Amino acid sequence: VIETKRGGGAIDDVDLRRLIEGYVAGEIGDGPMAAFLMACVLQGLDGHETSTMTRIFVDSGTKLPLDGIGRPVVDKHSTGGVADGVSLVFAPLVASLGLACVKLSGRGLGHTGGTIDKLESIPGFRVDRSPEELRRQAVKVGCVIASQTAEMVPADRAIYALRDATATVPSIPLIAASVMAKKLAIGADLIVLDVKAGSGAFMGAVEDATSLAETCIAIAREASRPVIAAITDMSQPLGTAIGNALEVAEAIRILCGSAGRLRDLSVLLAGRTLAVLTGVEPDEAEARAAAALLDGSALACFRDMVTAQGGDPRVIDAADDLLPRAPVRRSLAADQAGTLTGTDATAIGEAARALGAGRRRPSEAIDPAVGIVLTPKVGDRLEAGASIGQVHARDEASADAAASAVRAALEIGDAPVEAPPLVHRWLMEVK
Ligand code: URA
Repeated sequence: VIETKRGGGAIDDVDLRRLIEGYVAGEIGDGPMAAFLMACVLQGLDGHETSTMTRIFVDSGTKLPLDGIGRPVVDKHSTGGVADGVSLVFAPLVASLGLACVKLSGRGLGHTGGTIDKLESIPGFRVDRSPEELRRQAVKVGCVIASQTAEMVPADRAIYALRDATATVPSIPLIAASVMAKKLAIGADLIVLDVKAGSGAFMGAVEDATSLAETCIAIAREASRPVIAAITDMSQPLGTAIGNALEVAEAIRILCGSAGRLRDLSVLLAGRTLAVLTGVEPDEAEARAAAALLDGSALACFRDMVTAQGGDPRVIDAADDLLPRAPVRRSLAADQAGTLTGTDATAIGEAARALGAGRRRPSEAIDPAVGIVLTPKVGDRLEAGASIGQVHARDEASADAAASAVRAALEIGDAPVEAPPLVHRWLMEVK
């Protein structure tokens, strides 16, 4: 099988299943599997192989059927970016619109933790939910965000860890199979994919992000599952907070009606979701989503989700006092006057990771309190010395390093520049 793929040939279904099931069972070692994965990175997989691999991943574990919830159910996935707290806003927002959002996540290997790491910065918040608890909460509250159980898609879990250690992550078919297996194992009525493109994303170019989205959509089509995908901008951090508790605090502010790009993208995605699942006109659906952020109904759903998962709901009214706080807070000021013409999102993300907000190995702990707040967006006018945010750090030395990294990541020029679009492109397969 390895030789066939090395030579660019296609692997038949039975061989692929034997290989993956053999690896999960411990009958095939890391060496041959890593060689096979590298051959896949170099030679690619065709559409049929990619769908077959996805199906084998799904079949390796338990599934979560979600029929009988009494509301249309959506599952949302982001390919990951910097200051990407959309799920924290999207889940309660769609719940407030009469839908249910059931989202199972792994722990992030990104610049900050994943969504469940962020939620765990809320005192008491529990991310382990049994299938029965997930269902009950989806019915009662309309949103639940929990950790993926060890029994779900174990083949992807094992292979993703090996890919991470063998430089075999960057392959569109391998990423698509890995992402979609986790989506297909959950019986949502609609899968919403937020595929990021730009300097802070897996895929730098819009064309590559589109290709990943198209590959995911093809897998969903094979499995007869409806999906919408947005190719969204990650050429700069999406929100203003990069760090786990800081991102929760920002999500709460948005659920209380604050403006910004993170709010705008959450509204767009929630509006499309409502339109597709209920047939409401897209403009009307978006207006309802925007209204739910202003009238407190989305915030009420967030409060109910926090309470249902054992978290302290008082964080909503006193985030600054009750979320973890870093001992050092360093103000950031603009070095010079001008227009912000570019922000190196990856550099900002790496600076947050160096503070302790993210992990490099799955076993590492994250520090929920630390991170960066960076308020200006590309196109904004800056005045010399004006405040542009804060570093939240464990100690002075790490605050110094992060402050220098942020300064170096900002490009300030004289000519005005347009703000990049929020969404480059929508792709849908909903029939
Ligand atoms: N996220 C995943 O879940 N899988 C990949 O392969 C890459 C990103």
